[in-house]
Amino acid sequence: MTLLITGGAGYIGSHTVLEFLSTGRDVLVLDNLCNSAQESLARVASLTGRTPGFIQGDVRDRATLDALFTQHQIEGVVHFAGLKAVGESVRQPLSYYDNNVAGTLTLCQAMADAGVFRLVFSSSATVYGTPAHVPIDENCPLGQPTNPYGRSKAMVEHILQDLATSDPRWAIALLRYFNPVGAHASGQIGEDPHGIPNNLLPYISQVAVGRLPQVSVFGSDYPTVDGTGVRDYIHVVDLALGHLAALDYLQAHSGTHIWNLGTGTGYSVLQMIHAFEAACGRTIPYQLAPRRPGDIAACWADAQKAAQELGWTAQRDLAQMMADTWRWQSGNPNGYPDSPTK
Ligand code: NAD
Ligand code: UFG
Repeated sequence: MTLLITGGAGYIGSHTVLEFLSTGRDVLVLDNLCNSAQESLARVASLTGRTPGFIQGDVRDRATLDALFTQHQIEGVVHFAGLKAVGESVRQPLSYYDNNVAGTLTLCQAMADAGVFRLVFSSSATVYGTPAHVPIDENCPLGQPTNPYGRSKAMVEHILQDLATSDPRWAIALLRYFNPVGAHASGQIGEDPHGIPNNLLPYISQVAVGRLPQVSVFGSDYPTVDGTGVRDYIHVVDLALGHLAALDYLQAHSGTHIWNLGTGTGYSVLQMIHAFEAACGRTIPYQLAPRRPGDIAACWADAQKAAQELGWTAQRDLAQMMADTWRWQSGNPNGYPDSPTK
């Protein structure tokens, strides 16, 4: 039996493919490479000594999906494929609803017709909107995401819950990621954003390596430890391992299951900058700047539910997140050689 991983050439996907291959699972990746490089999977193959199957194709393409399900014995699907840039989603909402919502519908229709009912979905803490309280547990009411990207994730959560209600054969995990950072400890695979990074840690690491002049710290008057925004940063390898645990759980539990994947600890922007300076041995120039529209002050997970039900907790601390990011960034200052931006 084979596991289908959509978006498996991307940042979180490639780390998850590596962990599944390492446990002996057979993996088939479907990715249109719109935001990734196939080199990531070549490196996964060399790190694990096992080569994942690869189909360059689009999750919205029903014919590709039908052929794939006919040709392979698929036991379940881990669905990463989608677009994720918040600002771009405001400028191109149709593209976000098409890839993220319509893509998931097409995938689920093809799965049902093929008799495959086990699905792990990449959701996001963004569905909580401005949280009523921190830490955020899974019972915290969903908020109002402030952009089309966030709304696409909330829509898909509702759709998948309706689907599982309609047919007891479905077993679906909704994984609400907090802030994924870091890279595989080998330094061979990591995050390779296009253009100017939107997210904090890739921005910091590109300043450290000399690609960007300084970090703008968005907001210094939040009610937090030092006035800067606080987030729950989780090492991407811990996040990847959460997918293995979720998929195992689905083997014995149908219905929809929601888990926060976070560490339970928040760090401020300035704490992140100083931790990265310690890891790379360089000074990171930064300037205080106005708040970024749509940002919340503080957000971190209550990660107890995943600990109790999945036996999963994040193991890698902030120092390791920073050291691994720096190993990847300094060894690959321009990312993968065949990434779509190069
Ligand atoms: P990524 O862009 O590195 O990976 C997504 C992959 O999906 C890419 O390889 C891309 O080429 C592929 N893809 C996109 N649209 C596709 C389509 N229509 N058909 C086939 N392939 C397609 O992003 P990532 O950070 O690895 O995120 C993976 C998932 O996790 C996404 O769904 C994202 O929304 C979600 N997520 C990410 C974060 C984060 O901060 N990185 C946080 C919460 C949730
Ligand atoms: N920040 C800066 N400067 C930057 C970039 C970010 O100060 O150049 C600050 C932000 O204001 C925020 C913190 O760093 O306080 C984290 O910002 P990110 O953009 O890295 O992450 P967000 O928490 O805004 O959002 C991320 C993903 C979303 C996802 C969310 C929750 O981008 O897709 O985590 O999982 F939904």
